[in-house]
Amino acid sequence: MILRIAHLSDTHFGGEDKAAVEEAIGAVADFKPTLTVVSGDVTLNGLPREFLAARAWLDRLPRPRLVTPGNHDTPYWNLVLRALIPFSRYRRYIGEDQVSRIDAPGLAARSLNSARGAQPRPNWSKGAISTERLQRIDWGPSPALKVFTCHHPLIDIPGAPVTGGVHRGAAAAKMLAEAGVELVLTGHVHNPFVLPLPGSEPGCYAVGAGTLSLRTRGTPAGFSTILVDEARIEVTALGWTGARFETEQSWALTRRPPAQPVVANG
Ligand SMILES: [Fe+2]
Repeated sequence: MILRIAHLSDTHFGGEDKAAVEEAIGAVADFKPTLTVVSGDVTLNGLPREFLAARAWLDRLPRPRLVTPGNHDTPYWNLVLRALIPFSRYRRYIGEDQVSRIDAPGLAARSLNSARGAQPRPNWSKGAISTERLQRIDWGPSPALKVFTCHHPLIDIPGAPVTGGVHRGAAAAKMLAEAGVELVLTGHVHNPFVLPLPGSEPGCYAVGAGTLSLRTRGTPAGFSTILVDEARIEVTALGWTGARFETEQSWALTRRPPAQPVVANG
């Protein structure tokens, strides 16, 4: 069975690349995904009109869809709302803001919010993961593929223009690898990347999608497609040329070997 995941991120409605977000709808539909993941920062400043535009766009993406918020999906410039009720607009316009789950044929996908409205550190855009909530995630009955998404990369990506700075990120990555998760899909950086999570050998990969906004950081606007068969995972980052999406980069990854069935002696 081949599983097909469309991974989009950081549309930043209010600062979106209008042509790219529009064309992405058709490109994702043509890809015929088993699952569509949107890993946060759907808006630029968390304004109601940005959420309305984001919601209308999300509704046109193929289902099932797993969407998780990013740090920009809080009322960005209203520090009082941001501190007190950071995700009330996200909940109102988009949906569940903390933990979501999708069970599709052959896969289980779960999300956990890594964004915070306010934090006891100067940069509130950085991430944090609740390992208690992560521990409580129910993956269901042995799916063929486990996929996790949050907005911030759990580990910092070498050479990336921004860091996730995720509190408890390394611990979360270890927990996910031990739970048998093979794909950790994130955004935030605005550049696509693929990296094995350290200490997770073999086969738990951190995968970042680029942005569909005008806030590019050295690579074109774009999104990623992921094909998974029994032995391999193929990630393709597509970049927007101004006229179409073209392959920017691709990665072929080896899957972890399946657990051997226990055979009784004698
Ligand atoms: Fe972003």
